[in-house]
Amino acid sequence: MLPDLETPVPLVDLARVERNVARVASYARTHGLALRPHVKTHKSPRIASLQVAHGAQGLTCATPREAEVMASASRDLLVAYPPVDPVRAARIAALEADRVTVALDSVEAVEAMARAAGAAGRTVHVYVEMDLGMRRVGVQAVEDAIALARRAADAQWLEFAGLAFYPGHIRQGVAEQDAALATLATQLGEAVEAFAAAGMRPAVVSGGSTPTLWRSHEMGPVTEIRPGTYVYNDRTTAVIGACDWDDCAFTVLATVVSTAVRGQAVIDAGVKSLGREPVRGAADEGFGALLDHPEVTVRSMSEEHGVLDLARTSWTPKVGDRVRVVPNHVCVAVHLFDEVVGVRDGAIEERWRVEARGRAHA
Ligand SMILES: Cc1ncc(COP(=O)(O)O)c(C=O)c1O
Repeated sequence: MLPDLETPVPLVDLARVERNVARVASYARTHGLALRPHVKTHKSPRIASLQVAHGAQGLTCATPREAEVMASASRDLLVAYPPVDPVRAARIAALEADRVTVALDSVEAVEAMARAAGAAGRTVHVYVEMDLGMRRVGVQAVEDAIALARRAADAQWLEFAGLAFYPGHIRQGVAEQDAALATLATQLGEAVEAFAAAGMRPAVVSGGSTPTLWRSHEMGPVTEIRPGTYVYNDRTTAVIGACDWDDCAFTVLATVVSTAVRGQAVIDAGVKSLGREPVRGAADEGFGALLDHPEVTVRSMSEEHGVLDLARTSWTPKVGDRVRVVPNHVCVAVHLFDEVVGVRDGAIEERWRVEARGRAHA
């Protein structure tokens, strides 16, 4: 029974997750795009298996532990993180999967990965990562990307498999992305042409994110998308119009613990349940909003306290009331919990561990 749960506790609305997963799988199919969801959002084989059952070709991971855990859900894993540290490279090379790919942007990473792959006696595929505006990782010039791809192609135990980029710099509202997407399509088109001219046409062009998800087919030569957040969605995704409010599948169930200070109510979900993540594009910032009263935001937080701003609501919370908070950035909130509770029609249906959280060997 939901009322018996000790709060704060993360709830996953199963019907909404199933709808989100099915909808994106259908979008990818319609546009002929391979779907390789990023598991950092849910970190659980339970949800990864649902994505695979709906046709995801493989999974994207950020950490070695994510990849180790996800080997139970897919035999085709991409680690979209530079494998520079030899321990990380060795863990990647040891993955129990049929096909392992890494995204990288340096000669050092090629060498570390080649050494680890050789030591493990297995071939590792390589995507060369290009920076198309995110300014995080990624080779800056196409000629340098080609040189790196050649280096990977020439390395024993490595195989050049394609190009990768992450359009994380495109976070404006979905309707305001035209110019940024057109630029991206031009950059990608030119890169693919240059690779082809060098005799290295990439078999895969891997990109995608949740903010740009529904417009992935406008990204020129993209063949594969890696959205993560879409599975649960969050306040940021709703604010920019990449999902509706009722597509938010993950909430933190919390209890009102104090109404002593006028104009506010305090819940038992603070930074250690919601994360201190900003929301972009909202007039009122805050650290989350209530699913059933979206006009109520979490105005400030301590570690275990969240202060609800009641300035714009006629709702009058009482001590002991329960609320469901939609976090600003769901991926961070998920990794703060050991276990999530799956609910359907207001009743608990199942529980599962957030198995890929942390760094330890799986
Ligand atoms: C390399 C990479 N690919 C894909 C994603 C998924 O993006 P989103 O969560 O916006 O769907 C991320 C998110 O951080 C990422 O870093």
